[in-house]
Amino acid sequence: MAASLDGFIARKDGSVDWLETADEFARGDTMDPEFVEAFLSTIDCYVMGSRTYETALGFEAKGLGWSYGDKPTFVLTSRELPRTRDTVEFYSGDLARLVNERLRPMFRSIWFVGGGVVSAECLRLRLADEIRYSIVPILIGDGIRFFEKLDGDVALHLSEVKAYKSGMVELCYEARK
Ligand SMILES: NC(=O)c1ccc[n+]([C@@H]2O[C@H](COP(=O)([O-])OP(=O)(O)OC[C@H]3O[C@@H](n4cnc5c(N)ncnc54)[C@H](OP(=O)(O)O)[C@@H]3O)[C@@H](O)[C@H]2O)c1
Repeated sequence: MAASLDGFIARKDGSVDWLETADEFARGDTMDPEFVEAFLSTIDCYVMGSRTYETALGFEAKGLGWSYGDKPTFVLTSRELPRTRDTVEFYSGDLARLVNERLRPMFRSIWFVGGGVVSAECLRLRLADEIRYSIVPILIGDGIRFFEKLDGDVALHLSEVKAYKSGMVELCYEARK
């Protein structure tokens, strides 16, 4: 996910208006759309929390499109939510069972979209192999954390760092098992 320097992925009300900033870092890389497309094509399925799904539905309703293409998208929820496409499937219950018993045998690259509750659940259950954390050049003071209520240490190995012209720094970590 993308977070402010103080570790928030959204404001308390869920808004992400601060993600686009006016910063420029002259020595940074340019985000090449072809590279982004090639990277997205390596993702086999998405998993997201219901609040992230509701944000995605809100973007779609505003005409901003659906970011997950035609890839299978598993939405974690205990509620009845609107389903706008066949690729979306709802799941409620044990996340480790969903990932280990259902998704891993079918999909190689499973992308957890977020948000903070789900990313913490994923780390707590030791399901993550890799964490992609992009720091946006802004402080927002308060909001929803990248990892909501982690209950212990998680040792990481820094595997990649990239800085972009937009001032965003992309960090990639391997989670040590
Ligand atoms: N900056 C970024 O890159 C980025 C990326 C992703 C999201 N976001 C933002 O993050 C915010 C949402 O994050 P969040 O932490 O509030 O919520 P979230 O992680 O998206 O969703 C949490 C909800 O998912 C459901 N859930 C989680 N695990 C479940 C399970 N095992 N079984 C059934 N349901 C389960 C529960 O809701 P129910 O009540 O439905 O059961 C839970 O309250 C949004 O504002 C979104 O825009 C930002």
